[in-house]
This record gives sequence, C-alpha cells and structure tokens, in this order.
Amino acid sequence: MAETTPRTIAPAKGKLGVLCVGLGAVASTFIAGVELARRGKARPIGSLTQLATIRLGKRTESRTPLIREFVPLAGLDDLVFGAWDPIPDNAYESCLKCGVLDKHEHVEPIRDFLQAIKPMPAVFDQHYVKRLSGVNVKPGKSKREWADALRKDIREFKASGGCDRVVIVWCASTEIFIQPGATHQTLAAFEKAMDANDVTIAPSMLYAWAALMEGIPFANGAPNLTVDFPALEQLALDKKVAIGGKDFKTGQTMLKTVLSPMFKARMLGVAGWYSTNILGNRDGEVLDDPESFKTKEESKLGVLEYILQPKMYPELYGELYHKVRINYYPPRGDNKEGWDNIDIFGWCGYPMQIKVDFLCRDSILAAPLVLDLALFFDLAQRAGFSGVQEWLSFYFKSPQVGPGLYPEHDLFIQHTKLKNTLRYLMGEEQITHLGVEYYEYGKE
Ligand SMILES: NC(=O)c1ccc[n+]([C@@H]2O[C@H](COP(=O)([O-])OP(=O)(O)OC[C@H]3O[C@@H](n4cnc5c(N)ncnc54)[C@H](O)[C@@H]3O)[C@@H](O)[C@H]2O)c1
Repeated sequence: MAETTPRTIAPAKGKLGVLCVGLGAVASTFIAGVELARRGKARPIGSLTQLATIRLGKRTESRTPLIREFVPLAGLDDLVFGAWDPIPDNAYESCLKCGVLDKHEHVEPIRDFLQAIKPMPAVFDQHYVKRLSGVNVKPGKSKREWADALRKDIREFKASGGCDRVVIVWCASTEIFIQPGATHQTLAAFEKAMDANDVTIAPSMLYAWAALMEGIPFANGAPNLTVDFPALEQLALDKKVAIGGKDFKTGQTMLKTVLSPMFKARMLGVAGWYSTNILGNRDGEVLDDPESFKTKEESKLGVLEYILQPKMYPELYGELYHKVRINYYPPRGDNKEGWDNIDIFGWCGYPMQIKVDFLCRDSILAAPLVLDLALFFDLAQRAGFSGVQEWLSFYFKSPQVGPGLYPEHDLFIQHTKLKNTLRYLMGEEQITHLGVEYYEYGKE
C-alpha cells in the first residue's frame, strides 16, 4: 500500500559512466568483477543493489522485491568505466599487479576488456601521498589549471563513452591528514586558495570540485577530507549534486560497528579495544607513512565514541582505551588479517574478553561497495537529492553528515535508514517494526 507520494525520479536511460579516481586494487577488482558478472562468469556477492531484497508493507503482505527491481537503478550492462591514476598501468596490468583476482580464472578471460581501460593522467602531488611516485601525471603546476583539466577529462569521457550520466568514486590512495581551515569554509576562499596553490588544497579536493562544477555526483572511498567541508558541501547544494564519504566500511571497522551496538544494547561495559592489522598491498604501503596513517586512524577511531556515547554512559565506557594499528607486511598482499582484542565487563563488574581474527580480502570486500555507491549516487541524483547523502552512511567508516548533525555508525541503523529512504523514494510506507496490532488486538 502506497503511503506517500513517490518522488519523481528521472529514468535510468542510456549509459552510466563510472569514473574511478585511482585504478589500483579496489578499482580494478570492481571493474573486473562487474564485467565478469555481465558475462555470467562470477556473481556480484556483497552488493545490495544486485542481491538484496526489500520488504514492503506488512509482514502478511509478502512483498519483498529485489532492490534493483524496486527502484530504477542503472543496469550492469549500461556501465562504462574510466579512471585516473599516476601509475600508467591499464586495468589488466593493475589486476595482475594487485593480485586480488585469479589470473587464469578471472583476469585472462576478460583481458581485452581490461586492457582498453587506460588511466587518464592524474592530478598528483607526492606531498599528499608520500609513498607513491607516478609518471602518468598532468603537466603544469597550477591547481586551477589541474582542476580545469579534470573538468575537461570528465566532459571528454562522457562524450567518448556515449554516457548519459557520470558518477565519480574516489578509489585512490589515502592522502595526508588535513584539518579543515579557513580555505575550506566558503567557495570564494576555496577558489582563492586554489588559485594561490595553497597547500591546504589537496588533489582529491580538485577532483571533487571539478565533479561538482560538472554536475557529477562524487563519493569518497578514502578518509581524506576531499569533499567533507563547508565550501564544497555548499557548492554541492548550489549545483544540486549528490556527494558523500568517507572511507569504505569493509573489514575491521565494519565489525566494530556491529559488535559495539551489541554491547551498548545489553548495557555491557567496554574497558578497552585493541585493533591491529597486517596488510601488504600498495594501500598498506601508503598507510605506512605516518601522515597518511593519521588520516586513516582518525576515520577508524571515531566509531566507538559515537556508538557507545561515553559521556552518556561514563561508568560503562568512560575509561575505554581504544587503539588502532596498521602494519605494512608485504607477504600478505591484499589479504589483510585484522585482530581485535576487546575487554568487556558485565554484572558486578566481572571482566570478559572477546578475540576476533578476521582473515579478509580487502578489495573483495570493497569492490561491491563501489558498485552500490555508483548506482545509488546515480539514483540519488536522478531523484533530485543533493548535498550530503546521509542515507548512504551504510557504506562509510566515517560518514559525512550535514551541519550540526552527528554521524550514525551502527551498521543496522544505517541499513534501516538506507532501506527506508528507498521506500520513501518510491512512496511506500516506512517500516517501524512496531507490529503491536498483531498481538494487542489480535488482528492486523
Ligand atoms: N577494503 C579496502 O580495500 C578499503 C577500505 C576502505 C578504504 N579503502 C581506501 O580505498 C583506497 C584504494 O585502496 P586500494 O587498495 O585500491 O589502494 P591502491 O594503492 O591499490 O590503489 C590506489 C591507487 O590510487 C592511485 N592514486 C593515488 N593518488 C592519486 C591521485 N591523486 N589521482 C589518481 N590516482 C591516484 C595510486 O597510484 C593507486 O594506483 C585507499 O585510499 C584505501 O585506503 C580501501
């Protein structure tokens, strides 16, 4: 039963261009996985847009369509890919170097397709990513010049790919930690700083600015500041463009945002949470630099503070000691191992421990998020949503929120919010899980 008036959503007609900033492990695994799924050679596991259903109406109505049949999403066959990277490897070479997918089963069969995806020269400055050096970079030294060149790239990609629409997902390395300052407060200050080649304007911000100026939605999969400050948030509203970030929520932090709501729901105390990782891919190498690690650390540390609310529950969480370590360890490649030791306490203060050892695959977990973000950001844009897309917090470690709001980190609240937003878009009633009518009155 329709509850509200559905939003007007422009149809998903024509091709959707997906531009990845960065063509490393995550981006190449995402692109290859989509192509394999299109050819029926692999399944898009981990993707809500491809696999999940959504319940509509009352439980007795038995209406649970697939999300992709409920909301008008772009189809996989309509996706066209492009990228920028300072490393000139095409998507085939990147897949082989990153070593995420099996060469014989998943890379060679789509070799021609992957080889055709060549990265455009990047806006790159080693000051912001110390452990990388690249040759495939844009000439010139002026930030304004680079940003304008990115706008041109977007337009040319859209035209050459025959795209009706484009979305951009930042899948590039984590930049050094930058605190929002005066240059990030207004668009005028931001553009003035860009013209002055100010050090507080990082390459990722130039990509975001270029996207917004072109009316292209922008999602940030890394913890960099990028589009998370007033100047670009306002620009997104002015240009009516959807934005969001930060940092794909895939492994250890995803677990954290599932376990910590459980402790709080049961009013169990947490004395300490020690998280450590070993990771051997290029991302691990970049994060080995203390300045890039600081950006990641901030993103990973915030979640417990917001979920556990130590100020509200000082006796349970006021003394919580939280530590996060990332150790670069080349032999493991993309196969990260993350350990968590959690010291909790219960009735009468008795201590207990939980140990988690997650042997995961970083890019295998991140690739479906890139797909969902591309499709949902495109949906948001067609539905006339603009500014920060809080309903997509589900995908981010450090969700961007509107002014004056605090982020929602609990994975299941994020999940409910996402699905309720889809129901809202299509004019279906919100699901509250109240259901009192079933037992209170013995009828529906
Ligand atoms: N599970 C996950 O894999 C996961 C989770 C959360 C966040 N992330 C983030 O996603 C990003 C990508 O991860 P990855 O494993 O693919 O890393 P990667 O090192 O394999 O790939 C990143 C690519 O970005 C390129 N790059 C760097 N600066 C650039 C710039 N200015 N313009 C264009 N390209 C640039 C690099 O050359 C590299 O090829 C990282 O920031 C990582 O922290 C990954």
